Amino acid sequence: MKKPSFKFKSLTEADLPMLADWLSRAHLQKWWREEEITIERIRDKYLPRIFGEDDARPYLVYLDNSPVGYIQFYHAWINQAWWPDKPEKGVLGIDQFIAEENNLGKGIGSRFIAEFVKQLFENPEITEVRVDPKPDNERAIRCYKKVGFKKAGQINTPDGPAMMMVLKRKTFLGKYQ
Ligand SMILES: CC(C)(COP(=O)(O)OP(=O)(O)OC[C@H]1O[C@@H](n2cnc3c(N)ncnc32)[C@H](O)[C@@H]1OP(=O)(O)O)[C@@H](O)C(=O)NCCC(=O)NCCS
Repeated sequence: MKKPSFKFKSLTEADLPMLADWLSRAHLQKWWREEEITIERIRDKYLPRIFGEDDARPYLVYLDNSPVGYIQFYHAWINQAWWPDKPEKGVLGIDQFIAEENNLGKGIGSRFIAEFVKQLFENPEITEVRVDPKPDNERAIRCYKKVGFKKAGQINTPDGPAMMMVLKRKTFLGKYQ
């Protein structure tokens, strides 16, 4: 069977109506917080990311040339208010979702996240990548464990309680090289 091929394309302004449509879907409501999903609010939030004026860098995930999801990384040391341990330079955070509900739980997320993290670690300055799912997001936690993230304890973020999960460069390279 042909190995699926994932590509990450920087989000553009032209993608925002599609992103707004995705974000309004029922399977994301509990796990992806948006205060209000109107095209104006989505533009206000995501245009600074598109233009590099925000610490998050947004991408669409393509599987065999079709957009299937969204992923972003952010420089965790810039927004020191987010995590209680105030991470050092070199620590990145990621957030992601799959657009179609019937694509959940089929191994797509763990494969594109592993590929994205591999690309992040190509920068030698990156020491670790973290995710902070809600503690009851069992599907996401299971997915991140498969990629190699390890639970590092429950924390409180401005978004509420979260399970901190950490993937260190050494662990990742040991698993995938
Ligand atoms: C989180 C997300 C990106 C993971 O991608 P995915 O393709 O669903 O993940 P995978 O299929 O690779 O792995 C999920 C695992 O959880 C399992 N799973 C599915 N539903 C589950 C549930 N309700 N409880 C526990 N495990 C569950 C799957 O069987 C799979 O494990 P397995 O491969 O051992 O069988 C995707 O589920 C998603 O977009 N969820 C909605 C948005 C979201 O939660 N985003 C994350 C915010 S931190």
